[in-house]
Amino acid sequence: MYQRLKAKLDRVVPDFELRLKAELAVEIQQLKQERNAVILGHNYMEPALYHSICDFVGDSLELSRRAAETNKDVIVFCGVKFMAETAKILSPNKTVLLPAKKAGCSLAEGITAENVRQLKRQFPGVPVVTYVNTYADVKAETDVCCTSGNAAEVVRSLNSDVVIFLPDQFLGRNVARETGRAFYLPTPELTLAQLKRPCLIGWQASCEVHERFTVEDVTRAREHFPDVCVLAHPECKPEVITAVDFAGSTMAMVSHVKKSKAHRFLLLTECSMADNIIAENPDKEMVRMCSIRCPHMNQITMQDTRDALKHMRYVIEAPEDIRQRAYQAVARMIAIRGGTTGYAKP
Ligand code: 13P
Ligand code: SF4
Repeated sequence: MYQRLKAKLDRVVPDFELRLKAELAVEIQQLKQERNAVILGHNYMEPALYHSICDFVGDSLELSRRAAETNKDVIVFCGVKFMAETAKILSPNKTVLLPAKKAGCSLAEGITAENVRQLKRQFPGVPVVTYVNTYADVKAETDVCCTSGNAAEVVRSLNSDVVIFLPDQFLGRNVARETGRAFYLPTPELTLAQLKRPCLIGWQASCEVHERFTVEDVTRAREHFPDVCVLAHPECKPEVITAVDFAGSTMAMVSHVKKSKAHRFLLLTECSMADNIIAENPDKEMVRMCSIRCPHMNQITMQDTRDALKHMRYVIEAPEDIRQRAYQAVARMIAIRGGTTGYAKP
């Protein structure tokens, strides 16, 4: 295990850490077999964990699909709580474990089920699309979920000239532009009759990581490295998305770097992903301007993953009535094929 990790991660993880993590990885692999478990790892996991113990890695959409398909008894979700909860919604008969007690998300915490019910009263009959970065009770109020990998496709699939799109205001604005729609943040006075159609009605939540990237970050990178290819997650502000070369889900960004003929890249997303990409693409270079680690993803460690399997903790549950309603919205999303292709440069 140490040799395998060394070959991949020599450039990104110090040797003493690799030795420690290799020992942990062997222990986790053994527990995984004993528990008949599958480990799903989000692209934001730290490099040693990402490259040693995960059966599948990917973005939220890909990991939702994997969770729905698995025949293992236990799903260990190395990601944040809303992702583990989505796995439980899709696979209610499996035991779903999240290695950290509370690995939250500023988007999921930015909206409640009552907020959605209020919007439905204010805009009756308008279909509701909810980003998967939400908790089960919010998904239960939703017609269809989406991820950053398929948001525009999901909106188009509804054939409705007004759509409520929650809760990320920047993803909402980026999808509105992608699908040629106006974008509104709701005020108590706003009515259906006042809306310019086609449009999206959004919500004022944002990702505490991606909202921090600016156009100046892109400009500065291009000044220093004129050949740099800049990629961003669509949770970044619209003006940032306009300034970059490619925007897409975490998995779309991974594929783009792999396929691109460019040599140098800057990723405007949480910073572990750059390390994971470098490990897979030793011939490419990453501009190390990104230092924003998602504090929630950062809670998932290999030690905690081992303890999760050892002590079968922390078990993710969803009340059955809520789960069933949320299931409809997530299953509809999964049935819409495609995703993870990324946005064309505006
Ligand atoms: P992806 O679905 O693109 O992996 O995004 C999840 C996320 O939390 C981004 O911050
Ligand atoms: Fe949530 Fe942002 Fe962290 Fe993703 S990076 S889990 S959207 S806080």
